[in-house]
Amino acid sequence: MDKFVDIAPIVEIRELRDGLFLLSFESESIAKNAKCGQFVHIKCSEALFLRRPISIYNVEGAVVTVIFEVRGKGTKALSEMSAGTLLNVLGPLGIGYSLSEYSGKKVWLIGGGIGIFPLYMAAREYKGNSKVILGFKSRAFVAADKDFAFTGAETHVVTDDGSYGSKGFVTDKFKELLEGDKPDAVFACGPMAMLKGVYEICKENGIDCEVSLEERMGCGLGACLCCVTPVKVADTTENLTVCKHGPVFKGKEVF
Ligand SMILES: Cc1cc2nc3c(=O)[nH]c(=O)nc-3n(C[C@H](O)[C@H](O)[C@H](O)COP(=O)(O)OP(=O)(O)OC[C@H]3O[C@@H](n4cnc5c(N)ncnc54)[C@H](O)[C@@H]3O)c2cc1C
Ligand code: FES
Repeated sequence: MDKFVDIAPIVEIRELRDGLFLLSFESESIAKNAKCGQFVHIKCSEALFLRRPISIYNVEGAVVTVIFEVRGKGTKALSEMSAGTLLNVLGPLGIGYSLSEYSGKKVWLIGGGIGIFPLYMAAREYKGNSKVILGFKSRAFVAADKDFAFTGAETHVVTDDGSYGSKGFVTDKFKELLEGDKPDAVFACGPMAMLKGVYEICKENGIDCEVSLEERMGCGLGACLCCVTPVKVADTTENLTVCKHGPVFKGKEVF
């Protein structure tokens, strides 16, 4: 799989809401090869040895966009960059969702919190053939829902406290929508408990399920083994790296 280290100029960086930033950079090589569910590994500061993994949100021509939340030193440094700064980016990395395998079929996209971002390119691809369920803690954390709706995908927002969209978890909305319709596959990304809940519902209903996992990463290339996770392969369990063998796995391989 083609991956590149690029010194890419930032074309746009702006705060979408408190602590959440959209960053676009120009990289023909990464843009040309990027697939939905893959990520880029960004050098956020000369003072930090390790790069930070961020999912690819969108690609338009040679421009790649990511959306990230400030969590610690790396993402804070990244948020302080400005348009014109040259970004050191490695990517596209990992294995994304099986977009082409489900072409023409019904795929529902289920994301929680910052886990919604790797699903956007799938919404753009499947448009009205997909339903999207986005879950957030409360209104203050809602982001990108209008982008998803604009693709033509039927977009539902839920919040834990009901302050925006309907009240509940993505799994509640998933069960509700299943009363009237059933997809061929679900692509999900979010906290582990959410992914497990989504997978269990898929299993009960005979729906294929792909989940994107998050692990702390070092090299991003499968060499340092710091992101190893147990994955069921055939009848055995193997320790595979989330960065190289994932981050997207079949739900049945993980749970
Ligand atoms: C494949 C992948 C895709 C990702 N995509 C996105 C994205 O699109 N948008 C986004 O906002 N974030 C995303 N993340 C999470 C992002 O990489 C971390 O928030 C970031 O690395 C934190 O770096 P930091 O230096 O700011 O914080 P640190 O100082 O390193 O850590 C701050 C806090 O974040 C936690 N943390 C650090 N790394 C991770 C991680 N990988 N997973 C979970 N918690 C972590 C730490 O335990 C600590 O509590 C992704 C992570 C992975 C593995
Ligand atoms: S981050 Fe080094 S092996 Fe995955």
